[in-house]
Amino acid sequence: MITLGEGNTPLLRAPRLSERFGVELWLKWEGANPTGSFKDRGMAVAVTRAVERGATGVVCASTGNTAASAAAYAARAGLHAVVFTSRGAVARGKVAQARAVGADVREIDGTFEDAHREARRLADEEGFVNVNSINPDRIEGQASAAREVVQQLGRVPDILALPYGGGGNTVAYAVGFGERLPRFVLGEADRREDTFASAIRIVEPVHRLEVGGVLKRSGGTLVTLSEDQLEEAWRLVAREEGVFCEPASAAGLAAVAASVTAAGQSVVCVLTGHGLKDPDATERLAA
Ligand code: F0G
Repeated sequence: MITLGEGNTPLLRAPRLSERFGVELWLKWEGANPTGSFKDRGMAVAVTRAVERGATGVVCASTGNTAASAAAYAARAGLHAVVFTSRGAVARGKVAQARAVGADVREIDGTFEDAHREARRLADEEGFVNVNSINPDRIEGQASAAREVVQQLGRVPDILALPYGGGGNTVAYAVGFGERLPRFVLGEADRREDTFASAIRIVEPVHRLEVGGVLKRSGGTLVTLSEDQLEEAWRLVAREEGVFCEPASAAGLAAVAASVTAAGQSVVCVLTGHGLKDPDATERLAA
């Protein structure tokens, strides 16, 4: 198993946010993973399988966290990592992480979707495995987070709140919960093409259809969030609970704040990545 010690992240009770929203609120702190995001859960499985299949390298497109994670697990496995990003659209800490562990970072003049196309093209070449969330090993690995939540809470929560970028994580949580789904409350950026929450700067979610299915099956809600709503939720997590996540990570909480939730319900907000990854955005938080 190629591992860096991913998973088993804290489920933190959030007393002040609970009181503010009249619910029993918990934060699943995925920034505590080895490279600082939830991607590590899926990458451990995907890279382990890539090695088993005799791959010489892994490739992905990324808004940053997938890149940092793929790069680290590839280094650990002795594989090459090639990551395609949209030029200028990735937080500085994430590029630094990927470069530090030896990844070949290729910035392209185009969108995340263009980068995704490049990654798929390279994966068709011999020896490279694509480790984007279209790889089912990624989904399988990330599903562990849902089982952890149930274990830590002692039951399935009433509501699971998540940021929605490409939708892979939503699909993974649904797989992990299995038959008994909590109500999924998803937060997406209204300005998908240029939101300051750069991790979810994705115009065409690759898992859109499956996400629609999860929302339907769980009686869930998709909330489209303004930049102000995203920023406000991010500030609340930091100031009220002392947890410093990256901007996109607070989209789940922002969606809960914007939707009607029955009093006393148990709500788990997944905080997907660490605040240290995005020093430029952080200037806004501190201002
Ligand atoms: N939160 C963070 C911190 C992310 O990095 C991402 C996705 C999401 C939420 C959205 O998750 O795509 O499964 O719905 N980041 C990808 C990347 C796109 O390349 O790192 P999703």
